[in-house]
Amino acid sequence: MRSVLIFLGLLCCGLHAAENDFHFSIVGDRTGAPEPQIYGRVLREVALFHPDFVLTVGDAIPGNHDEKLEREWKEFHDLWAEYSSLKVYHSPGNHDIWNELSRQAFIRHTGFDTHYSFKHGNALFVITDTGRHDELPASELDYLEEQLKANPDAAPKVLIFHKPFWIERFAAGDTTFRLHALAKKYGVAAVLSGHGHRFVHMVRDGVEYMEVGSSGGSMRGKLIRGDGFKDGCFYSHIWAKVKGPKIYFTVREIDGLFGHGRMFDASQWDENGPKFPADDPALAKKPGT
Ligand SMILES: [Fe+2]
Repeated sequence: MRSVLIFLGLLCCGLHAAENDFHFSIVGDRTGAPEPQIYGRVLREVALFHPDFVLTVGDAIPGNHDEKLEREWKEFHDLWAEYSSLKVYHSPGNHDIWNELSRQAFIRHTGFDTHYSFKHGNALFVITDTGRHDELPASELDYLEEQLKANPDAAPKVLIFHKPFWIERFAAGDTTFRLHALAKKYGVAAVLSGHGHRFVHMVRDGVEYMEVGSSGGSMRGKLIRGDGFKDGCFYSHIWAKVKGPKIYFTVREIDGLFGHGRMFDASQWDENGPKFPADDPALAKKPGT
């Protein structure tokens, strides 16, 4: 009898872990200074992959001017209009919210609060309101912990916030800050940010941290300085696969006039950049035919 119960228990655990089987796309910043023709191309590619849903990491509109607010949100909606069948979860960036008027506009135009969480299958996603702040506010970390605590069995757990507060901390060798402590304590799989218009990927204590590259926000200054693909400067979006409690990220550079369509697994990129030939990621596999 005991062995039957153990077998049933293992079966249930197995079913639970295998519950997730879906894809989603991550779209990076569109602004500070949108580069023409990029975001529309990203959306076209994203739609062609037919994700179960799309996550954005913030900076949808140029912002910072109350008088342009409504016009800029209309422009943003116009870009998405063709893809209205896609379910999109938006995150607030510093260009989206700069005062109370713009905070209300974000809520009205996206249909989401400035922080919220949702589950898809057994996966948990927590979006925090950090775009306006230079440091991670304690109140948002409290909210984050509340959501993680309320969903102990969710897997994977993914956190999204606009500014990558973690880059400088990790670069300085600090792994004791509260965000990372929470991520470790609650078994967070991935932390996703934007803002920097540069692809960055690091893993610390089993937690995957990613600054999603630009999906339209200008990189002109970086490119003029000589930065390129190996420095994370390319226009892209990300295709994420969730299978059971695991999550896998494939980075897709746009093609056409503004990119080379390079694709790679995010795990093949660390703080030193790509672990594959930057000109042709496929060469890492030594294709013989
Ligand atoms: Fe930003």
